[in-house]
Amino acid sequence: MSERCLKTKAVLTAMPKRVLILASGNGSNFEAIVKYFQGKGLDVAFELLCDKKDAYVFKRAKKLGVPSYFVEFESLYDFLNARKGKYNLYVLAGFMRILPEKILKICAGSGKFYTDAGCCNIVNIHPSLLPKFKGKDAIKRAFEAKEKKTGVTVHFVNRNVDSGWIIEQKSFDTKGLSFTQFEDSIHKIEHKMYPEIIENLLFKKRVLILGGGARENALAANICNSPYLEKLYLAGANDGFKHLGETVDFTGYKELLEKSLALKIDLLVVGAENPLCEGIADIFAAKGIKVIGANKAWARLEGSKSFAKEFMLKNGIKTADYKIIDYSAGENRAAFDDAFNYFLKKAAVPVIKADGLALGKGVCIAENINDAKLAASEFLAGKFGSASKKILLEERLFGREVSVISLWDGKTLASFPPASDYKRLLDGNNGVNTGGMGAYAPSNISARERNQIKKYLKTLEMALLEEKADFCGVVYSGLILTKDGVQVLEYNMRFGDPECQVLLELLENDLLSVFLAMTQKRLFDVDLKFRRKKAYCLVLASDGYPESPKKGAEIFGLNEAAKFGCKLYFAGVKALPGVVLRNFNPNHADKKMPVNENTKKLSGLDRETFENLLTNGGRVLNIVKSGSDDKKTLDDIYKAAQVISFDGKIYRKDIGKC
Ligand code: GAR
Repeated sequence: MSERCLKTKAVLTAMPKRVLILASGNGSNFEAIVKYFQGKGLDVAFELLCDKKDAYVFKRAKKLGVPSYFVEFESLYDFLNARKGKYNLYVLAGFMRILPEKILKICAGSGKFYTDAGCCNIVNIHPSLLPKFKGKDAIKRAFEAKEKKTGVTVHFVNRNVDSGWIIEQKSFDTKGLSFTQFEDSIHKIEHKMYPEIIENLLFKKRVLILGGGARENALAANICNSPYLEKLYLAGANDGFKHLGETVDFTGYKELLEKSLALKIDLLVVGAENPLCEGIADIFAAKGIKVIGANKAWARLEGSKSFAKEFMLKNGIKTADYKIIDYSAGENRAAFDDAFNYFLKKAAVPVIKADGLALGKGVCIAENINDAKLAASEFLAGKFGSASKKILLEERLFGREVSVISLWDGKTLASFPPASDYKRLLDGNNGVNTGGMGAYAPSNISARERNQIKKYLKTLEMALLEEKADFCGVVYSGLILTKDGVQVLEYNMRFGDPECQVLLELLENDLLSVFLAMTQKRLFDVDLKFRRKKAYCLVLASDGYPESPKKGAEIFGLNEAAKFGCKLYFAGVKALPGVVLRNFNPNHADKKMPVNENTKKLSGLDRETFENLLTNGGRVLNIVKSGSDDKKTLDDIYKAAQVISFDGKIYRKDIGKC
């Protein structure tokens, strides 16, 4: 780059962001926004436009030193047209006018995208949970309608009244509130949430996702449509989804860190457990990059079963009785015999578990004590390397298993609905254990079980607080619903695969906004909202999975499958040699508004057929769909499974049915 270019670039990056706030009256939101940015010392230049000559907001502008303009609505188009391209964002704060399409288009600017869902350069705040109570006097109407829950919506603006792509909503319970309290609660929320959202829209984030399975595909597909995303980077993505972002090649974490610093990555999202146990979160955090994923110390909840047990016992979390046998410092027959005698006295056959990570395979449920001893000996002899030099003998529990995935930011635990996965290879829960052949959420559980889980999650939150668990990431509780209540089978410290795929299908919030709140320890402030639907995921695998799956077969029918309204997430796939990947992404074909430049390309609007993938692993791809009619949803998933074809295709026929 020439010196002149460099200088120009430096000037551009140093330029303050410019925001035009449009208001019609009182201007309390205007003031809250300006004060928030002034207080944080952020380089944002505000201007005010008001269509009412005597509006109080002018007084506030004067006090805050913000340039202001009185513009009659009839002249608004000319005013904005003359300033086209000057503002990074237009903020409606009590601007009581509907913007016609020609104005929306000017504000959208040249590079920006505009569709029916709205203009991604103009935001509005409205004092109700849209689409309820659009238009004037929303607070009064919600109060008179005795709404049990109300709140605030921030959305991109389209040409209709208070509608367009919803960015965030916050709600509160109205029980017992007088009208004044009701109104005050709304304003309090508005003045807090609007500035925060505006900050995220002005200072978008560069996000790196690490991992190459269907789970990471689902995370990437969600995040690449976030209004808060500047650019998505992918490390380790497979050929089925690497077009969702820019690839970052790396050989070790040190190199990944160096590249991330050079690319000015703001946030690393870690998919799998190994990097977490190896301390990737600590490595990135030390250089100021925020991470979604536990630090090394807390990844031990997954990486060391004995650490997890100690944590549970110390904090009153119910779990199976256990004994440890440790051969890491050499054979110890006495410990072996003591542990087995303990279970013999109880006349129980213990479950054998490797202490460390063993790709989900380090568990043996033996039918008799001799088999259990044999398995224990094999584990201790190094069946899973050093991960099984230390093992747990564990009392076997009986009941239905469910997984609860929670987010933790060091202060607050927020959970997804319980999910169920299908670990066994074959129908009827037969065959060997796999990484997971399908999943659904929410799990079918009774109200009593739901309450027990809620109680357990409160205990878990208190335990994490008590232990000062200072990380930002995921806690996955593998639970078993026994006749004596909920007990914990295991912890994982990342999203489950395939549970993640169904949970993201239910999540209404923008995932990146939730992650950003977590990095600021503001999870307590986030209203996690879930669609009242059921989501299912079916895994198509390759014959021979899990031991030795067939590879290299061409996959056909992907475009056909997407026609059943299903999302496809890829895992064990790679592109045909010599094929240049194109912008096909069936998951975004139905998106109404790609909100940034990347997603425009990726949205499926530039959609082309894409049949150039080969199988390259055990779990090949996922078919995911949600709906309120379970039968129809599953029918569509299975129709899609039939039209996708590749040599060696296998899948379970009973997902959602057993
Ligand atoms: C706010 O409550 C805002 O949500 C609402 O007008 C009020 C303006 O108050 N906006 C709408 O109803 C948009 N349809 P303010 O002038 O004190 O900021």
